[in-house]
Amino acid sequence: MSQPNTGTPQERTPQEEMITRSTTEGKILLSCQNVTKEFSVAGSKITAVDDVSLEFPESSVLAVVGESGSGKSTLARMLLRLMPVTAGTITFRDQDVTHLKGSGLRKYWTEVQAVFQDPFASFNQFYTVGSLLRRGLSLAQVPKDEADVLIEECLGYVDMKPKEALHKFPHQMSGGQRQRIMVARALMMRPTVLLADEATSMLDATLRVNVLNVLHDLKNDLGLTVLFITHDIGQASYLADRVAVMERGKVVERGTTEEVIFSPQGDYTRRLLSDVPDLRGSLKS
Ligand SMILES: Nc1ncnc2c1ncn2[C@@H]1O[C@H](COP(=O)(O)OP(=O)(O)O)[C@@H](O)[C@H]1O
Ligand SMILES: [Mg+2]
Repeated sequence: MSQPNTGTPQERTPQEEMITRSTTEGKILLSCQNVTKEFSVAGSKITAVDDVSLEFPESSVLAVVGESGSGKSTLARMLLRLMPVTAGTITFRDQDVTHLKGSGLRKYWTEVQAVFQDPFASFNQFYTVGSLLRRGLSLAQVPKDEADVLIEECLGYVDMKPKEALHKFPHQMSGGQRQRIMVARALMMRPTVLLADEATSMLDATLRVNVLNVLHDLKNDLGLTVLFITHDIGQASYLADRVAVMERGKVVERGTTEEVIFSPQGDYTRRLLSDVPDLRGSLKS
């Protein structure tokens, strides 16, 4: 992996940033076919994810957008194999991984990594960032000298230096820095897919753009495939090559980012778009 040779994300603004979208799509790395999840709540059944089929081409960003409760996180948990499907199939590198167990599943989890919403919840407040990162690698039995090199490399991907991060406690960092540490931690496993579930939702506007730009650079520089889950179609359109819109467990609309933003087909998508009035002006292609 080579070091991203981009400027510091802090120096860029959405207006300056040219988002480059994938025009030619790679081969399908991860997909799900007719995936459904039902929960029983107080004796009644709710269908959180209802017959969803999606494809994730290599080195592209697919955004899944929808209101709170539309089933995005449940879908993410199934794709990550943290939660069993009620029905349907998950395929990774042409292999059915829906019921993978043991070492096969552990291998899958090195390839498919996730970053979630609340960076604080993922940190133990009493450990430094350095011990958090080293711990992950020691569990994976990476020797210490290799671990230090890998940590420096992965912090580099999120524009951080070991000396400004490793000795700090989580509360001594900004929300954006914590979120970038979580991305670095996910990258240490050298994943091919990064799943970000509302990973930028708790950040203020500047820090959010900062993390979005980091994700964008990772796609371009490392060829990472990114599943970007958000309730905010504005963020999705900033980053994604393709967008899938979820409503009450179903994918109700999908297409390239331009198609979904400029010619939304359904009322639900139009409503999501109307919450971000100046979106079309800022969309770059
Ligand atoms: N473990 C669970 N048990 C019961 N219901 C759940 C569980 N997880 C999610 N749900 C329900 O499934 C629906 C979708 O939730 P979720 O996937 O978290 O949506 P989103 O991430 O889009 O906000 C919601 O109605 C939620 O209450
Ligand atoms: Mg969610």
